[in-house]
Amino acid sequence: MTELIHDVDLADPQTFHSDLTDFWKRLREHNPVAWHPPRGDNPGFWAVSRHADIMAVYRDNVNFTSERGNLLVTLLAGGDSAAGQMLAVTDGHRHRELRKIMLTAFSPRALERIAERVRENTRRLVAEAVERGTCDFAEDIASHIPMGTIADLLGVPASDREFLLSLTKSALSSDAEDAGEVDALMARNEILLYFGELVEQRRASPGDDVISVLAGGEIDGKSLTEDEMVLNCYSLIIGGDETSRLSMIDAVRTLADHPAQWQLLRDGDVGLGTAAEEILRWATPAMHFGRTCLTDTEVGGVPIAAGDIVTLWHSSGNRDASVFDDPYAFTLGRTPNKHITFGYGPHFCLGAYLGRVEVSELLSALRTFSRGFEVAGPARRIHSNFLTGFSSLPVRFEPDPAGLAQYHETRGATV
Ligand code: HEM
Repeated sequence: MTELIHDVDLADPQTFHSDLTDFWKRLREHNPVAWHPPRGDNPGFWAVSRHADIMAVYRDNVNFTSERGNLLVTLLAGGDSAAGQMLAVTDGHRHRELRKIMLTAFSPRALERIAERVRENTRRLVAEAVERGTCDFAEDIASHIPMGTIADLLGVPASDREFLLSLTKSALSSDAEDAGEVDALMARNEILLYFGELVEQRRASPGDDVISVLAGGEIDGKSLTEDEMVLNCYSLIIGGDETSRLSMIDAVRTLADHPAQWQLLRDGDVGLGTAAEEILRWATPAMHFGRTCLTDTEVGGVPIAAGDIVTLWHSSGNRDASVFDDPYAFTLGRTPNKHITFGYGPHFCLGAYLGRVEVSELLSALRTFSRGFEVAGPARRIHSNFLTGFSSLPVRFEPDPAGLAQYHETRGATV
């Protein structure tokens, strides 16, 4: 069954424009820890497709490291320049300490305040779009919510938000196949410079945002360097913007395609939290993460040598029939739902709570303001070997006049 993986190039973004359901199913059954051979300039790597094996590698930060990159693109290029400085590509003692510092900005009180902003923002954007009748859900709604959330976490002033949004769009978007690499690089540099300035300001007058927390943080008695602070601010955008956006867009597309499930949600027959988990399993916006093996070991009984690259495919693990009953059914009421959309183990997603809030608030706003919706034109798929989903989704809504009237009443009462 090694021929299976010879036919599919997992490093090529074009591969993900095809339906890989059958490929992953057969890989899980016949070659769950598969050697993906070298192609062109790319070295070979392991592709792990079963849920249990993926969890085992995530858990094991003794035999596996993130410090040589955690995405195919950096792993294949031989490393990540932010290694040892940025949380996601730092391991061991320094990772634990840095994570502890960053977690202080994710206290229940701070998160409560940010969740409330997500709720207000989402309700306003969805209510306005439903009243207009049609929108591009990706552009008009989803692109504003995660960046607003991250800007709140970082304490970015309201006047800079549009500027930052335009920079992150050119820096990171996997939207177009021919996205200009030079423009992207310039935008990334501008973002880093911008955060550099904010760090200076917060050092002088700290608040309770992530930047202030990083500026006041110490590891082993030493302050973080400016590079570390800037990179970790930036990492929230890399980690939390497009992933959440793609989950929300996928939620709308999938619900439009599954009217019976939408009805269950609308009638309140399934809880928002439970429904959000299934949305996240179904969407699996980050298709893989990866590690480098540090010492000769094994995964699922297959020997792995020190230095080997190991990639963990969430898009497969989240459809593993040994964990999920009827894995190809979209079932909003699914419990338990042990999806690995946010990873697992020491690097488990720092923003999982906020990602979940963003999806549940979207579901709540949709069911309050709209009786239903349909996809009103062609959706545009992104081009990436890491993320999956859509960058454009035209939608037509059927408004719920009672929900909208109530919204305007409460807003009228609070302004
Ligand atoms: C880590 C997915 C939202 C910030 C991760 C990891 C995954 C993930 C799979 C583990 C990476 C690894 O093990 O190498 C997602 C998905 C999201 C989401 C699918 C949305 C649906 C967010 C948000 C933020 C965020 C909203 C920030 C506000 C981070 C950070 C890490 C991380 C900083 C690194 C944690 C560490 O290394 O200790 N995310 N994420 N993510 N995520 Fe998220």
